[in-house]
Amino acid sequence: MMGLTGQSRLAGIIGWPVAYSRSPRLHNHWLARHGVDGAYVPLPVQPGRLVAAVRGLQATGFVGANVTLPFKVEVMALCDELSPAAHQIGAVNTLIFTPGGIIGDNTDGVGFLQNLRASATPGPGPALLLGAGGAARAIAAAFLNEGRAVIICNRTPGRAEALRDALPGLTLLPWEYRSAALAEAAVLVNTTSLGMTGKGDLVIDLVTARPDLVVVDIVYAPLITPLLQDAAARGHATVGGLGMLLHQAVPGFAAWFGVTPVVDSATVALMSGPG
Ligand code: ATR
Repeated sequence: MMGLTGQSRLAGIIGWPVAYSRSPRLHNHWLARHGVDGAYVPLPVQPGRLVAAVRGLQATGFVGANVTLPFKVEVMALCDELSPAAHQIGAVNTLIFTPGGIIGDNTDGVGFLQNLRASATPGPGPALLLGAGGAARAIAAAFLNEGRAVIICNRTPGRAEALRDALPGLTLLPWEYRSAALAEAAVLVNTTSLGMTGKGDLVIDLVTARPDLVVVDIVYAPLITPLLQDAAARGHATVGGLGMLLHQAVPGFAAWFGVTPVVDSATVALMSGPG
């Protein structure tokens, strides 16, 4: 990595905890690749100290920051301007500090779509999303924006209803029908935590699925989840979750450092490695 100078551009990731985050590794890799005089650092911010932290970064000349749990919604109130995506998703994951104020963006939906497009081409038909949390909202909005119908299947009906209130146009389906719905779905996306190391198993039967169903899991630990393994064994195109993490980082890096990085095999290899 380059040595820092008086002109170094600084960015980082605000969250609690952030020690597990792989974003510093990713951004510092791109900074080195492009020879940018800058650094991207973890910014652990205790709950209750978000305002002080953001004002402090602004006052010390940071060019921006990513925002992760638990602050993605709370930070919206500190933004002077929200991008259409941040407004639609109801959360901010990228802050850009400008002389005119703080711009809040949300790159999760575009990151998801870029990653999907890089590895598969789903046919026409609805997307079936399992889950109704923050990730589901970003992904559902992205699909709706490109004109694809979205079916939400969530264990807790009230959460799915809240999502539909925020994003009109969604179809809701009881959790028990997740396998049956695969007969018409063009894309299946697991946005739940099921299948993640240490969490429960996702139980879904792909036997009734359209042969051209594309299966996406946003879980990336393990990199190949049991769902993806099962889908690949049945001949379906599969898309893992690491790519979404990489692609959602691109717009922030470009805005802060003035270079648009490419998610290539070297990036994937670096981020798939241990540590
Ligand atoms: P995020 O904001 O990152 O998407 P989240 O808000 O915690 O994460 O959402 C997690 C999703 O996983 C929810 O849709 C949750 O379903 P509920 O709304 O019913 O809680 C889903 N989920 C977690 N554990 C689950 C389980 N054992 N069975 C079914 N769904 C589960």
